[in-house]
Amino acid sequence: MTPALLARLVSGEGAALLASLPPYDEAAAFTLADRLRAEGFDADLVAAALTQSRLRARGERKFGTAAHGMLFTVDGLEQATRRQIAQLHARRFSASGTRQVFDLGCGVGADARAFAVAGLRVTAVDADEVTAGVAEFNLRSWAHAKVRHGLAEHVSVPTAQAARTIGVWLDPARRTPGVSDLQGRTRRTFRLDQLAPSWDLVRELGAATAAAGVKLSPSFPHAAIPLGTQAQWTSYDGEVLECVLWWNDAAWDTGRSAVVVSDQFAHEVLERDATGANPEPARLDRLHGFLYEADRAVIRAGLSGALVRRVDGAELDTGIGIVTSPRDVVVPWAKKYAVSDAIPFNLKALRSWIRDHRIGRLTIKKKGASVDPVQLRRQLRLKGDNEATILVTRVGGAQAVLMLAPVR
Ligand SMILES: C[S@@+](CC[C@H](N)C(=O)[O-])C[C@H]1O[C@@H](n2cnc3c(N)ncnc32)[C@H](O)[C@@H]1O
Repeated sequence: MTPALLARLVSGEGAALLASLPPYDEAAAFTLADRLRAEGFDADLVAAALTQSRLRARGERKFGTAAHGMLFTVDGLEQATRRQIAQLHARRFSASGTRQVFDLGCGVGADARAFAVAGLRVTAVDADEVTAGVAEFNLRSWAHAKVRHGLAEHVSVPTAQAARTIGVWLDPARRTPGVSDLQGRTRRTFRLDQLAPSWDLVRELGAATAAAGVKLSPSFPHAAIPLGTQAQWTSYDGEVLECVLWWNDAAWDTGRSAVVVSDQFAHEVLERDATGANPEPARLDRLHGFLYEADRAVIRAGLSGALVRRVDGAELDTGIGIVTSPRDVVVPWAKKYAVSDAIPFNLKALRSWIRDHRIGRLTIKKKGASVDPVQLRRQLRLKGDNEATILVTRVGGAQAVLMLAPVR
């Protein structure tokens, strides 16, 4: 989309056309486009309106019904922070005493909207003219939010002692310009030296501003965490979405942390929760009745020790994030299973177990083990009326199979 086409889409005939479209239906899109062109609408405007209709439908996953009042670009939607997570970013700035946030590389404005909704004044910029225009549209309801087209490098963020209530938010693009997939999405990069704005600018602004947050890939390496910052891995419904580095007033703690989010809750796990955990891995001949599997954000943050402490147990193997314990407790950021059996990993022994228990339907979970579940299933010759779940994993350094039942 060009800036001129965006301007047509948000006003007059274009806005009326967009508002008149029925709920998006991929199968009917071609016919609808033909009909609209036959009614005299310009082909480019029809294509742009239908693209928005498709992106709005896709955007519901991140923004609920609010997506239908927003505009997107393909990359902008893909990179946008989901509403529940953006609200957490906004909450942290507000609680840190921030009154104004500079969002440098605002994309379609998903984070900026959450800042504005939280009552924070927002100055948002984006290097891409159309993306900045889309963000301006998405922030049109908040007079205290301003968007402009420009480079983060050209914005002078107040950083002196007098600027105690100024915060900066950066969500650098992690895409390789010019390289895109079939859907038109540019390819992702996980290299810090390919961030835009640059990793150098990120660290410079982070250190100099009263409160700063920078959203990075979940694969951000522990060794690269800048001194004095808080690194927080966040998952939503079990999927790890980001690692945010928080600086100065926005860093409530230093070191690594995780936040596990769903529509119902947000639970934080801190580095100190893991301190002093029993470092000894479990032994296969001493497994307990319950198994706890930490949320992936906790594992990415390297904080499985917090689960070991919480359930007073032992991790199956170092860093694996699964803990055996005799205690039956509720940990909102871990899944719980009952263990009915455990054997060393051995095809013959596993086949006998399957045969003896007449297992016809099997769920194979795998964590830290080098097996191919598809091939394993074929080799097991399932037969019988019973159903089972097995976990192929490592216990105390050796591969093992644990037979599981979910527990509420
Ligand atoms: C990951 S997106 C931001 C997504 C946003 N936080 C949201 O939730 O909608 C990053 C944006 O940074 C912009 N960008 C990249 N380099 C920039 C620079 N040097 N100055 C300003 N914006 C830049 C890109 O155009 C892109 O829209």
